[in-house]
Amino acid sequence: MLKKWLNEASYVVVFTGAGMSTESGLPDFRSANQGLWNNQDPSQIASTEALNNNVEAFTQFYRERVIGVKTYQPHKGHYILADWEKQGIVQSVITQNVDGFHQQAGSKRVAELHGTLQKLHCQSCQREYSSEEYVQRGYYCECGGILRPSIVLFGETLPVDAFQMALLESEKADLFIVLGSSLSVTPANQFPLIAKERGARLVIVNREPTAFDNYADQLIQNRQLGDVLAEIE
Ligand code: APR
Repeated sequence: MLKKWLNEASYVVVFTGAGMSTESGLPDFRSANQGLWNNQDPSQIASTEALNNNVEAFTQFYRERVIGVKTYQPHKGHYILADWEKQGIVQSVITQNVDGFHQQAGSKRVAELHGTLQKLHCQSCQREYSSEEYVQRGYYCECGGILRPSIVLFGETLPVDAFQMALLESEKADLFIVLGSSLSVTPANQFPLIAKERGARLVIVNREPTAFDNYADQLIQNRQLGDVLAEIE
């Protein structure tokens, strides 16, 4: 059905979560077997509170994730999406992921709702640092401020440009495909609903059930999404 709908659609938007990058080797957050939040509380590690009051644990956690996105690579699924964009099959990708793998694989129209680990800056003077510098330096900028990845922490607002792009794309979609997200975090999880409300077909490809399965026109569960994309390609 998904292949047929892809051929029939005129404006296809893909929405990805951490499940898009597990086949690259990066852990997701809520998978029953490997989710990062299964054994630590995100509000204690991925929040402005942690950044200001628990900088060692915060920096240790994000150093490991920055090293991860430098160590692992996009997988076949990322390249298939980039190829579909080149062919005009997919118009854009809205991602919650911060690994930059969609762009590395060649996707051009990407809305990074939660920022990126590929950039780092000082919390006080905003000076930008490379990921190599972040891994090697201590926790602090030369100005004395705390260094942090350019991602959206719990308690922070989403970047306006990415949010606006995601909203416009969701409103234009006539086929909206979710790949590898539990759809449990707002406001990101509202975009599939916005598309659906505007008349789009909604397909959710996710190994486990999501918060919005009952809105889907098609559910593809218990499958590796890389295989699902490869079968359609
Ligand atoms: N194929 C299909 N589904 C997969 C695969 C795979 N190879 N690997 C994992 N999944 C599914 C899991 O079953 C899980 O339901 O992907 C989903 C990922 O969900 P989460 O771990 O909750 O990740 P995500 O939805 O992106 O989380 C949203 O939460 O902590 C914040 O900022 C963080 O952007 C993140 C947000």
